[in-house]
Amino acid sequence: MSRAVFPGTFDPPTNGHLDIIARASAAFDELIVAAGVNQSKQRLFDDDERIAMLTELAAPYGNVRIGTFDGLLVEYCRAEGAGVIVKGLRSAADYDYEVQMAQLNKAMTGVDTMFLPTSAESAFISSSWVKEIARLGGDVAGFLPPSVHARLLQKL
Ligand code: PNS
Repeated sequence: MSRAVFPGTFDPPTNGHLDIIARASAAFDELIVAAGVNQSKQRLFDDDERIAMLTELAAPYGNVRIGTFDGLLVEYCRAEGAGVIVKGLRSAADYDYEVQMAQLNKAMTGVDTMFLPTSAESAFISSSWVKEIARLGGDVAGFLPPSVHARLLQKL
């Protein structure tokens, strides 16, 4: 049984994240979408809100469940019995940052990372930019799942 973890901050989850969830869930027997909680980052959506949004997005996929982690990602993977971390790659900049984490994670515990190139339609989307555009009154409906977009509008 292959079990993978797709980790992230998901503040909020975007169409790019959803694209990775759909494709990774087809590639593994089980996919855990794991939201980092209690980390020092400033967030717009609190832990419960991010988990609720992810739970809604995962509902159509029978083999996807939501988890949370606080601390080292590889320790979470070990506790969950997941041998693979899945990450989406948008660009060479993402690669440079992600490959070092992947190598560190592999060296620490043997947990490997598999990269999926984001689909062309979502390669330019990031949670941070979406939040900034929305705060400044821009239309971000095309970048987010409708349920997330509704929550973002409510929040702002
Ligand atoms: O959505 P993000 O912000 O790109 O997610 C980053 C995240 C949470 C996946 C990354 O920061 C992470 O793995 N944090 C857990 C702490 C950890 O294991 N650090 C060591 C990395 S080598």
